[in-house]
Amino acid sequence: PVIAVLNGANLNLLGERDPAAYGRATLADVESLCRRTADELGYDLDFRQTNHEGVLVEQLHEVRASAAGVVLNPAAHTHTSVAVRDAAAVVKGPVIEVHLSNIHRREPFRHHSFISEVADGVVAGCGPHGYALALRQVDHLVRTSER
Ligand code: DQA
Repeated sequence: PVIAVLNGANLNLLGERDPAAYGRATLADVESLCRRTADELGYDLDFRQTNHEGVLVEQLHEVRASAAGVVLNPAAHTHTSVAVRDAAAVVKGPVIEVHLSNIHRREPFRHHSFISEVADGVVAGCGPHGYALALRQVDHLVRTSER
């Protein structure tokens, strides 16, 4: 089985972008952590990043039936995109929304997520480790079908 980890806009610049909010880890570091965690849990990993909202929509379509579950950091699209929300809603397996930063402790425009209403769970403010937590939660939901 495969878990897809999908990342939205600007996350390719992780490590250099606003380290006070996002820390020093790069997206490659996050991918390695995800790969180790997925290995441990017995899943293959499909890890992607795009700066384009429509591409993120199409990636969600692509994995909607094939992935056991999805870990989704929609980045800025979190706060703006009904299209990403509607695409996340068609994913058959569990969807866990992840944010490196604690969006609720930041600017008011980051407090609302269009995605949370269709996500099975949300992890925010745990840094890269949040991705590992989200992968474990996908596995938990897959194994128990507690959705
Ligand atoms: C983010 C939080 C968003 O508000 C922001 O636009 C991002 C990253 C996070 O991981 O903390 O790009 O999703």
